[in-house]
Amino acid sequence: MTDIDARIALTGGRDFWNTHALPDADLPAMTMTDGPHGVRLQVASADHVGINESEPATCFPPAVGLASSWSPAMLAEVGAALAAECRALNVGVLLGPGMNIKRSPLCGRNFEYFAEDPLVAGELASALVNGIQSGGVGTSVKHFAANNQETDRMRRDSQVDERTLREIYLRGFAKVVRSAKPWTVMCSYNKLNGVQVSENHWLLTEVLRDEWGYDGVVVSDWGAVWNRVNALKAGLDLEMPANQGHEDAVRAALAAGEIDEATIEQAAGRVEAMVRKAMAGREGATDSFDVDAHHALARKMAEQCVVLLSNDGVLPLKPETKVAVVGEFARTPRYQGAGSSRVNPTRLDNALDAIQALVGHEVPFAPGFTTAPGQELAADAHDRAIAVAREADVVLAFLGLGESHESEGYDRETCDLPAEQLALLKELLSANPNVVVVLSNGSSVLLPFADKVRAIVEGWLLGQAGGSALADVLYGVVNPSGKITETIPRRLEDVPSFLTFPGDLTGVRYGEGLFVGYRGYDAARTEVEFPFGHGLSYTTFDYSGLAVTATDAGLDVSVTVTNTGTRAGREVVQAYVSLPSSRVERAPRELKAFADVTLEPGEAAVVQLPIPSEELAYWSVLDGAWIVEGGTYTVEVGASSRDLRLSAEVALTGNEPVRPVTLNSTLEEAFAVPGFAEAIGGMVSGIFGEDDPDLMRMMAAMPLAALVGFSGRPESEVQALLDALNAQNR
Ligand code: GLC
Repeated sequence: MTDIDARIALTGGRDFWNTHALPDADLPAMTMTDGPHGVRLQVASADHVGINESEPATCFPPAVGLASSWSPAMLAEVGAALAAECRALNVGVLLGPGMNIKRSPLCGRNFEYFAEDPLVAGELASALVNGIQSGGVGTSVKHFAANNQETDRMRRDSQVDERTLREIYLRGFAKVVRSAKPWTVMCSYNKLNGVQVSENHWLLTEVLRDEWGYDGVVVSDWGAVWNRVNALKAGLDLEMPANQGHEDAVRAALAAGEIDEATIEQAAGRVEAMVRKAMAGREGATDSFDVDAHHALARKMAEQCVVLLSNDGVLPLKPETKVAVVGEFARTPRYQGAGSSRVNPTRLDNALDAIQALVGHEVPFAPGFTTAPGQELAADAHDRAIAVAREADVVLAFLGLGESHESEGYDRETCDLPAEQLALLKELLSANPNVVVVLSNGSSVLLPFADKVRAIVEGWLLGQAGGSALADVLYGVVNPSGKITETIPRRLEDVPSFLTFPGDLTGVRYGEGLFVGYRGYDAARTEVEFPFGHGLSYTTFDYSGLAVTATDAGLDVSVTVTNTGTRAGREVVQAYVSLPSSRVERAPRELKAFADVTLEPGEAAVVQLPIPSEELAYWSVLDGAWIVEGGTYTVEVGASSRDLRLSAEVALTGNEPVRPVTLNSTLEEAFAVPGFAEAIGGMVSGIFGEDDPDLMRMMAAMPLAALVGFSGRPESEVQALLDALNAQNR
């Protein structure tokens, strides 16, 4: 193989999961595989949708669960464990975390993503990347970018205005790239504003590399490259999986002068550097990992992810409480999503066994309904469920979405729980009003029964140890502290993206713009079932002493949190910022900092919530830059986006550029700039008589060019006046 052939080879996979080896360069092949919440290493037949088996590995909670912990520290711990398993299985890069914004609860892959908010997504993805890479294993933050649905995912054109793209869909990726330096970024399948992402030079080079300073490898999603020559020119480095035709096309393009060697070498060099980093990371690697310790970590993680949505005091249960367990999910847990992220778990706990172990005896159980296609259900299943419910003090109804209801590759048509489950729940409630619903689902479901049941525990998907974690929460062995990172709406029609998701063959227009998730529900003042950031505890927390100070670096925010209940607990404190006087469109409030704190009963602690300036900036399309507006900001701190306990105001000068006044400026804009009122006030009163406030209000939006026309003065004279005044203000 000639040298240039070797370099071209490096820009594509050797097979489904491996890069090319270059023996002459002492460069071995390197394995990249999924992720994100466990290692899916296939040694026999390979696929990218989780059909063929893979080696046993710890199945940690998928992103929907991990995110509900709001704990970067916990995610870093999981990352370190994932790295240990990658090293044991000789995997150089783990394909994750997935961090696309949850634009609609219908997206089939939401289980694999963190949040409807870019700060949560960015902070948690960064923690996971740092955790994994601290173990000498690379990551692949995905899917870059605006891949927020599964419908027609390999072709559909995501049409997103630049401000929305920057502030919502790219912001989390920018944070991870700058703070955690992922070894690879995975480019997505879709188009973005008319250009296939794998060939999108603006995204892959101008934004990712030139603006964000990224120097790692851009790897394609599997099968996302349509033309490797165009992709290499756009800034992609590695096409996966192997594609001999595309490799030959690069060779032909080079011979024809359609691509230069430098471009090929740039990509090949990055791939080689990545493989050598992985080689270094394997120093001292063993071929095993501590299965029990990782299972224990998966359980500890899952316990932090469980969200107590509602509770009238029925929880925590006492061991002597006479319970009945209804629902197949209690016996056959739904613990991860379907598709490329499907892990072959080393163990699998279920809630039914965990509950029976906890109370020390068998408890009545009825599956009640099927959770997967082809599952057998006894003819009397329904009656059996009602019968056990009738005899119990409390009924634990394990409901949720089966693997076929939501998956990579397709989106949901509805936000409802399956009809047979809702029907059964209705009958359970008739038989016994003391029902606690326990949910297993990868994305928000509608909860029309929320005010009819005594408590709702949202388990999301909790990984292989989730069953034990749920039992621990139900019986109070663990005090729940998770909080939702996606709004649970009252109606699907209330979702801000409802009208445009998932689009059609002409593309998907992100018509709600910035107003995705809680930003949209708050702007439209829409009632929701449970708001972004919500989650209860078995104790209570008081907030006091909010302090907000402007500094050169941004805002210093601190608040005292006190555990006012009778048991230890962890609180996720959230800080939201708004600018009521803003001159640009904004959501009513945006999350700008969060931190968790664990407190004993009666204990208080000061929680720091620093907000860096870049988090306060909006993307000014006018200036093509991030701008912090001057003005008086409101900082609200609380336990969720709609449980805001304290607020404070702080003035910021901001960094808005002094924009020159032009003939296109309005009268109002011109009068706001020093010196202009004196200079052109005469012209205005000459046209409209003495200053008349009402008249001025009517004229405020008039461009100066129109005024010049009315004034009869030559435009050149007015332009000279503007130039002089702009020079003074520069
Ligand atoms: C899949 C997924 C991606 C995964 C890759 C390899 O199609 O989109 O997340 O890492 O292919 O399985």
